[in-house]
Amino acid sequence: MRISESQILELKNNRDLKDPELAALIDTDEFDGLLFKTADDVRREHYGDEVYIRGLIEFTNCCKNNCYYCGIRRDNRNLERYRLTKDEILECCREGYGLGFRTFVLQGGEDPWYTDEIVCDIVGAIRKAYPDCAITLSIGEKPRESYQAFFDAGANRYLLRHETASEEHYRKLHPGSMSLENRKRCLFDLKEIGYQVGSGFMVGSPWQTTENLVADLRFLQKLSPDMIGIGPYLTHEDTPFRDMENGSFKLTLRMVAILRLMFPYALIPSTTALGTIDPMGREMGLRAGANVVMPNLSPVGVRKLYKLYENKICTGDEAAQCIECLKRRVEFAGYRIVTSVGNVKR
Ligand code: 5AD
Ligand code: FES
Repeated sequence: MRISESQILELKNNRDLKDPELAALIDTDEFDGLLFKTADDVRREHYGDEVYIRGLIEFTNCCKNNCYYCGIRRDNRNLERYRLTKDEILECCREGYGLGFRTFVLQGGEDPWYTDEIVCDIVGAIRKAYPDCAITLSIGEKPRESYQAFFDAGANRYLLRHETASEEHYRKLHPGSMSLENRKRCLFDLKEIGYQVGSGFMVGSPWQTTENLVADLRFLQKLSPDMIGIGPYLTHEDTPFRDMENGSFKLTLRMVAILRLMFPYALIPSTTALGTIDPMGREMGLRAGANVVMPNLSPVGVRKLYKLYENKICTGDEAAQCIECLKRRVEFAGYRIVTSVGNVKR
């Protein structure tokens, strides 16, 4: 199907297009200039030039899952595993708070060592010490009761990318022990409990088709998440996908812009994966409609160990250095980092 500039205006005005038009827009770079400009207009209407920062604390690289694309998968024996203690996590928060962070994102593999009780204890301690901050969890698929317990302990946001919304594609990326159905169940449970929910997907993961990407957008319309995180698939030598190609940088930017037009209110990070695939990736992500950056607050000693993919950036820098660097980058791109808690503007 051929599309023209008018479809981009239609996408802006209706926040939607028909499947074949969306697919055609995803598949062409012909309108990238207009697409990114329109996405930036919409982000400025809703969020001005503000960029929110989230302090990412990667507190465990142990994982019971075995996703074929992921470097911290269970069967990777070439990886030294680590777990941060409650005190180490609180120390990250303390440093982050001093640097202006008002959101802490606790991210980790699915690590049963951190029982619900331990997670609640950690979340409770952060909540008590920083009542003015948002606490985001990103620790994978759990029973609804666990999500409820974390929420009651003080967590208020949760990130869980759906990864791909197509059943057939999902099965090519994950072992049979995992299911798309359960992942979706988790996301809807999280919403019902009252979390601000983030989902998302990888761009250019092995065997992904344009139709798969359209299905991702349709799923997000059903979920209506507050946050949408996407990044290019990046290969890792110690996974079954070691010979697969990286996702496309340009296509990822195009998906960011399309997301901004479909979900004008959304919090969309310019991700580490985007900054890894291109030295100017995060700047370009912001200019294509992203409005969040997530610098690393993990202790420098463990950063290289949270290796989801090759060449991950910012693994050698102190948090303070990263935030300085990011400030410059964000300003260079034409925006401004703000230190507010940065809630969604629905
Ligand atoms: N390339 C890009 N992103 C990856 N993730 C995991 N492995 C990779 C990879 N090889 C993403 C997944 C996950 C998030 C924490 O990181 O989308 O949800
Ligand atoms: Fe980490 Fe630039 S953002 S060093």
